Amino acid sequence: MPVQIDPTRVQALTEQQSALLAEKLPRSIEFAKRASQSLAGGVACTWHALDPYTIYGSKGEGSRIWDLDGNEYLDMHCGYGVMVIGHAHPKVVEAIRTRVGLGTHFAMPVEETVVVAELLSQRFGQPLWRFKNSGSEATMDACRIMRAATGRDLIIKVEGSYHGSSDGLAWSYWIDVEQAGPADRPIAVHNTAGVPEAFGSVLRIVPYNDLAAVERVLADEGDLVAGMILEPILMNAGVIQPEPGYLAGLRDLLHRHGALLAFDEVKTGVTIASGGATEWSGVHPDVVALAKAIGGGIPVAAIGGTEEAMRVLVDGTLEGEGTFNGNPLSMAAARVVLTEILTPDVYERFEAQNARFTAALNDVIARYGLPATVQTVRCRGSVHFRAEPVRNFRDEAGVDGPLQHLAWLYQLNAGVFPPSGDPWTFSVVHADEDLDRYVEAFEGFAAAVTA
Ligand SMILES: Cc1ncc(COP(=O)(O)O)c(C=O)c1O
Repeated sequence: MPVQIDPTRVQALTEQQSALLAEKLPRSIEFAKRASQSLAGGVACTWHALDPYTIYGSKGEGSRIWDLDGNEYLDMHCGYGVMVIGHAHPKVVEAIRTRVGLGTHFAMPVEETVVVAELLSQRFGQPLWRFKNSGSEATMDACRIMRAATGRDLIIKVEGSYHGSSDGLAWSYWIDVEQAGPADRPIAVHNTAGVPEAFGSVLRIVPYNDLAAVERVLADEGDLVAGMILEPILMNAGVIQPEPGYLAGLRDLLHRHGALLAFDEVKTGVTIASGGATEWSGVHPDVVALAKAIGGGIPVAAIGGTEEAMRVLVDGTLEGEGTFNGNPLSMAAARVVLTEILTPDVYERFEAQNARFTAALNDVIARYGLPATVQTVRCRGSVHFRAEPVRNFRDEAGVDGPLQHLAWLYQLNAGVFPPSGDPWTFSVVHADEDLDRYVEAFEGFAAAVTA
């Protein structure tokens, strides 16, 4: 039985842990003042601004990173999952060094561009590819491809699924559920100011893990729907797994109405399996968007698709521009990541490490009666601070935010750097003992908060 957590205790511990953190970060705290004179908000990306203090980094090696104050952390963030290969991997360092000496950018594709497309074809089973530089661009293009290929405008989007910052997709994630309509028929709510309402008018929002909701949209407007985009495993509301039959059911429903299915595998990509959630689920979408981990820390994104979907790029119906698309430096990094680092044995190791790790976390939750559940897929996972199972965004919106924040502060003060809300990622160089350290800090938090 979960115990009742006392909010005043959570607040007192949060103040105590924040004060401890301040003692570790005098230089970061001071540097934030200088940074905010030239960087808006003192950061290059809004996510870098942490509560209560932005931590400025200095270097990384293997499973460890260091901040400006010289504190060492076990990295369980891995840069939003990008660094699933570990930091400063010698093979990536060498590949980049070689490519730099040969020139890093031409107005022509290079051999590596083709090699990386071939490697992704083998992994994801999609015959044709294009490259971009960020996940936001890749998902934006995935929607364009579906629209151009079908000649229709509407996109079905899952509530709580994040696809980057483009105007067309910055909708219905990390929002106030009070404004988002009924749980089974959500309305489109933009996530940020500056996005015209018109973009929301061509979206239809559905809850995750709800085939009936998609069926309803298709029954009403099926001949207007170009396709549906989703994270096949939600990884921007903690980790939430698809229920059996959900992904295959989506593909069948959409195809029955002449619409397409796009998987946003920016996070799942090459991290949870060689061929990402496509391989993991056995469901092949029409279009797949990749980014983050494929470049081993160099910005790169990719879009793969079936011959039918990608025809619009082949015949020029759809423009596919981008100065840095298929940049040789990115391609050199991606090639070595895909051929020499993220090899098939890695995913088997992730599976075994994760089973042990998840069991240890569940053991802590059970022993202390924490109102929490764990969902993991190989090297990625999260704790949802809610006693009931989490199967969609609305469930996740009901987690105990202050408790989640406190758990994160305990990790930081124990010398572990996890994301503050995102799923954790462990890398190919993380050892079982590293994961034990995370569990130890989690137990310290559990003991304190339930004492
Ligand atoms: C699932 C998913 N799609 C797309 C994006 C956007 O990628 P980027 O930040 O590279 O634009 C992200 C970023 O976190 C993501 O998690």
